[in-house]
Amino acid sequence: MTLLDQDSNSIAFVDVSKTFPTARGAVTALERLSFSIRRGEYACILGQSGCGKSTTANLILGLERPTSGFITVAGADPAREFARLRGRLGSVFQSDRLLPWRTAIANVRLPLEILKIPESSLTRRAAQWLKRLGLEGFEDSYPQQLSGGMRQRVALARALVPEPEILVLDEAFAHLDEVTSERLRIDFHRLSKETGKTVVHITHSIEEALMLGDRIFVLGKPGKLLAVIDDVVGKDRAELRSDILSHLQGAARHARKERSSIDRPGGRAAIGEEWAT
Ligand SMILES: Nc1ncnc2c1ncn2[C@@H]1O[C@H](COP(=O)(O)OP(=O)(O)OP(=O)(O)O)[C@@H](O)[C@H]1O
Ligand SMILES: [Mg+2]
Repeated sequence: MTLLDQDSNSIAFVDVSKTFPTARGAVTALERLSFSIRRGEYACILGQSGCGKSTTANLILGLERPTSGFITVAGADPAREFARLRGRLGSVFQSDRLLPWRTAIANVRLPLEILKIPESSLTRRAAQWLKRLGLEGFEDSYPQQLSGGMRQRVALARALVPEPEILVLDEAFAHLDEVTSERLRIDFHRLSKETGKTVVHITHSIEEALMLGDRIFVLGKPGKLLAVIDDVVGKDRAELRSDILSHLQGAARHARKERSSIDRPGGRAAIGEEWAT
């Protein structure tokens, strides 16, 4: 099976690099990153702060273009064929991004309104998803009347209502307390499996990745694939945890060594300006 095998793969990155120009020079967020995510798979992308996780999410969603390399999402180039993917990709971020002047149900209706779905089914579909996320009875509440966990449930309902094939979650549960985030994780995981979604769940929590992922993609800085942990379900959690930690710590040690060598005279030019930032 190749990276671009469209029958089994939903998302593929082939040799993708992403560099941001900044006043202090170019910052490399991703460096020749290649991976693929299968249809119906719950994939967790795990890594330390600044390793390029959100950049990866933004590239999948077509919000950024790669500097070099090639990306395919559900058979389309997400940045160039944005319209072809409309309604087929859903996203949820750390902040709920709800519109404060709209009620819960009006927030959930919004993507269907944008897709010009007939008025007759809008409210019914939005109410169904609020119910599936445990918010029956809160349809007419405004975001400021709901708890953080409930608002994130509305954001999930809004992402799910157009029935997308792929969902991208970028640290979607990271700011919630442990009990709330645990419940939300369980509910979302069940719903995504019941509806056969392909999920890309970005997290910096090893525990979250181990709890949810069918596979875990471990990223190191800058945007390099350190390891792919296959068949997470059924494996010994403690062993996997220490395996993942050793990949992350090894990468951090390597980065520190590189940084100390660029501080030596002549080292900076030899290694590259981006490591000096
Ligand atoms: N628009 C931008 N302009 C300049 N640099 C950027 C931009 N977006 C990201 N970066 C840089 O690219 C690198 C990767 O950033 P990214 O936000 O993808 O990391 P992350 O893994 O999501 O981090 P975190 O866990 O803190 O959210 C960082 O060095 C960041 O400073
Ligand atoms: Mg991020």
